[in-house]
Amino acid sequence: MLKIGHRGAKGYEPENTLVSFQKALDMQVEGIELDVHLSADGEIIVIHDETIDRTTNGKGFVNNLSLHELKTFPIDGKHQIPTLKEVFDLVNQDCFINIELKSYEATDKVVSLIEKYVTKKGWKYDRFLVSSFDWNALQQAAFLNDKIPIGVLTETDLDLALAFAKFIQAKSIHPHFHLLTKENTAKIQEKGLQVFPWTINELEDIQKIKVFNVNGIITDFPNRI
Ligand code: G3P
Ligand code: CA
Repeated sequence: MLKIGHRGAKGYEPENTLVSFQKALDMQVEGIELDVHLSADGEIIVIHDETIDRTTNGKGFVNNLSLHELKTFPIDGKHQIPTLKEVFDLVNQDCFINIELKSYEATDKVVSLIEKYVTKKGWKYDRFLVSSFDWNALQQAAFLNDKIPIGVLTETDLDLALAFAKFIQAKSIHPHFHLLTKENTAKIQEKGLQVFPWTINELEDIQKIKVFNVNGIITDFPNRI
């Protein structure tokens, strides 16, 4: 049962920051999950929302601000918004990185950055897992490089996600945990796919989902798994 830290270790540190990812590593996670958007100047930015309003002291859309401008708005008064490259360098292959594409436009750049770390730094493809609710983005990632592991996100339709995952030869399905039963978990696994539900935080829910023998759990509290 793999521990996957949601937005790092969101239960303990500000989400999608380097300290949050370090906290997850300190908790011996096998994977971290994070979210990406593009800045106005085309940098891959690690942030959940399409604006900086909720998580920083600034306002505006990520894709209207340059990397330099984004770096001037602190999270919780002291943390900078990280780039995806900064997270790769921090993690340094110590766990796999589940990159959730929050915008289709980020797809090509994320694939290129992964390829750079594989070809220039010798990282293994299994250190990455690209997921999205935007299945067009996943199809594009699979088309650009069929070695990159893909995770199909769904919060509504497990059967459709399974059919699509088979079609693009994905590695895993990432369902909202309320969609899962022991039976449908087994059905997905019989088709050769792994199951990584999100975002499971309460001990009671963790215990319930563990009985289904999922392959991993995405959680804000990695030490609870
Ligand atoms: O990747 C699973 C989960 O993070 C999807 O929802 O809103 O937390 O990005 P959200
Ligand atoms: Ca996410």
